[in-house]
Amino acid sequence: MTTITVCMGSSCYSKGNSQNAEIIQRFIKNNNLTDTVVVKGSLCSEQCKLGPNIKINDKFFSNVLPETIEGLLERELGINK
Ligand code: FES
Repeated sequence: MTTITVCMGSSCYSKGNSQNAEIIQRFIKNNNLTDTVVVKGSLCSEQCKLGPNIKINDKFFSNVLPETIEGLLERELGINK
């Protein structure tokens, strides 16, 4: 099971994670990953300056933008396009 944790603190949320959360949900659905990937929200982890921040399992990703998140998901989840 892969866990994607999206920071829902106000800074990350307004910088892009509101959109990122939707893109992640759609990506999981479109790639039939609903049985293997779960998405969670987290509170601010005091790294707002780096945001928007997400984690995939224990790996931390900063400055994750809605324009580029799909490429990151493809890479990290091993989706070949
Ligand atoms: S809001 Fe995401 S680290 Fe602070």
